[in-house]
Amino acid sequence: MNQSIAQKISALRQEIQTHNLNYYTLDAPTVTDAEYDRQIKTLRELEEKYPEYTSPDSPSLSVGGPVLDNFSKVAHELPMLSLGNVYSEEELAEFVERIQKQLKNTQVLSFCVEPKLDGLAISLLYEQGKLIRAATRGDGAVGEDVTYNVKTIKNIPHILKGDNIPERLEVRGEVVMPIAEFHAFNQHAIANEAKSFVNPRNAAAGSLRQLDSNITAQRPLAFYSYGLGIIENGSLANSHYQRLQQLKAWGLPLTEEVTLETGALGCFEAYTQLLQKRPILPYEIDGIVYKVDDIALQEQLGFIARSPRWATAHKFPAQEEQTRLLDVEFQVGRTGAITPVAILQPAFVGGVTVSRASLHNADEIKRLNLKIGNTVVIRRAADVIPQIVRALPDAQEKNREIIFPTTCPVCDSEIERIEDEAIARCTGGLYCAAQRKEAIKYFASRKAMNIDGLGEKVVEQLVDENLIHNPADLFNLTAEQLIPLERMADKKANKLIAAITQCKNTTLPKFLLSLGIREVGEATARNLANYFLNLEALKHANIEDLLKVDDVGDIVAQHIVAFFRQKHNQEVLQALLDTGIHWPEIKAKEQQAQPLEGKIFVLTGTLTQMDRNEAKQALQALGAKVSGSVSKKTDYVVAGEAAGSKLTKAQELGITILDEAELVNLLS
Ligand code: IVH
Repeated sequence: MNQSIAQKISALRQEIQTHNLNYYTLDAPTVTDAEYDRQIKTLRELEEKYPEYTSPDSPSLSVGGPVLDNFSKVAHELPMLSLGNVYSEEELAEFVERIQKQLKNTQVLSFCVEPKLDGLAISLLYEQGKLIRAATRGDGAVGEDVTYNVKTIKNIPHILKGDNIPERLEVRGEVVMPIAEFHAFNQHAIANEAKSFVNPRNAAAGSLRQLDSNITAQRPLAFYSYGLGIIENGSLANSHYQRLQQLKAWGLPLTEEVTLETGALGCFEAYTQLLQKRPILPYEIDGIVYKVDDIALQEQLGFIARSPRWATAHKFPAQEEQTRLLDVEFQVGRTGAITPVAILQPAFVGGVTVSRASLHNADEIKRLNLKIGNTVVIRRAADVIPQIVRALPDAQEKNREIIFPTTCPVCDSEIERIEDEAIARCTGGLYCAAQRKEAIKYFASRKAMNIDGLGEKVVEQLVDENLIHNPADLFNLTAEQLIPLERMADKKANKLIAAITQCKNTTLPKFLLSLGIREVGEATARNLANYFLNLEALKHANIEDLLKVDDVGDIVAQHIVAFFRQKHNQEVLQALLDTGIHWPEIKAKEQQAQPLEGKIFVLTGTLTQMDRNEAKQALQALGAKVSGSVSKKTDYVVAGEAAGSKLTKAQELGITILDEAELVNLLS
């Protein structure tokens, strides 16, 4: 048995060493951080359980990667340390308790709380206020001299300003590539077929460790201070927080997120707040750092192995995880668009279990160089739909090519892919059961005819059982036909029939929307109704007429003409009108009072009294336009709870901001 434990430990060490090489030296990791952390944790647990196998060169003990030969080496006068981790509120409480016990302190402790920036650690040495050397952390004892490169980072001062600067001063902090700059850089690199980076941290590391500092100079890097090393001939405050403020006063960059907190409770509150803010911060962070603020207490607490006892990192849940691509399904949408969907080995990421992710289109599969069986990295940032961000290099031979179908997986009609358009479409139209189902679901949806109780499952059964072929058939259904369906009892069937009858009383915009004409959404349907006032006029409109309508361009106009020209559509439309669907007459625009005519609104954040769609409709009913993005043209931004970047942008542009109460007021 021991033989196998020894083998396991040795295999794990080798694997981690490979990851270290890929991550620290080559800037091209082949596993996610979460997976790396798990392997380190397993190794540490094994070494703890079987101390006979511990070894001084185990990767569980070292801080970083090896030092590259190309840069000259710098021995750190004071070692550059690493941080221990806590992963929960309980572990945080234990961390604080441990400190209090060691200090024999019963008073509440103050902590300096900082974001844990996801970049790479750098030491800056200033002598007489002048930057004379910059070094990477390396293995903590010896780093690399990257002075020339660091001097190209725009927010690092070469000369400190102000008074009382110690003769020798070592500032430590993190070099990062801000998220927006990272995306812009990658986009540019991809367009020029140059090397792109997998994440901002690797971009920062890869950019800083360039032998030619001219290359570094072109990379959008930034630095933020978080601590000090050598301090000679000069005195500094006795508080870590104060020291950071002093660095700022001397011209060194500091993040805006540094705060002072008391006790484990204060620290945890800061954690919750920073986690919420994470999506709108300009740089990536992977957690928060708590540091005992009093320097004398820090000294009393000292170090254990290579981490201080007075500080710890509280990691945020991973936004990236790795899992396996089990299969790819092809979904057919309402307009025939074929969407490849990844079927994944379920993985817990960003707080939820993810088992499917849209692959969007064939180009995306090509871009990711994806094969079935691949290990893939999935990412789910707060409230964002999960995405596959990359495939990890693994034994490709074993994996299966993803074959894009040439005929529709549902109706076998041919699939066409229009040149220059990324999307492939089933040409089956309403012959295709998938498109028919989607068309009927859309017809019944809340924003269209709003038929209560006609959910996806019911529509699918009705089509599969051949009870309906198009939306008009809904109106001939009887309760007797519905009752045999799955999960449908007498009462539910009767209610559904009543809802179908009731929906006949509608509005022209809703009816137009329900037809599912391509590219005709709520706003366009409303504009069409307001312009043509009745269905007959719209049916006979030509492209020229249509182009006069607000927001209707060439493509939409063509879709509308094509829709009304098609024989099948004419028949279904007539059948629908024959069922008695009706709407109130629309009066010409001049007669209507439109108090918000022409005003442009943007909705952001979460509303509590109504959903966004309701708010949008209510605003549009008063003549306002509702846009998805903030620009100089925006008149009002409605900011709900946890509003993010749109709110910030609105503030920057000086746009009037309304809260939910003010919106409700305005609408009434
Ligand atoms: S303090 C004595 N503060 O995390 C403690 N580190 O595992 C030394 N990091 O190498 C580190 N943000 O690269 C500290 N606010 C922060 C940090 C931070 C990011 C990185 C740093 C360090 C690693 C610790």
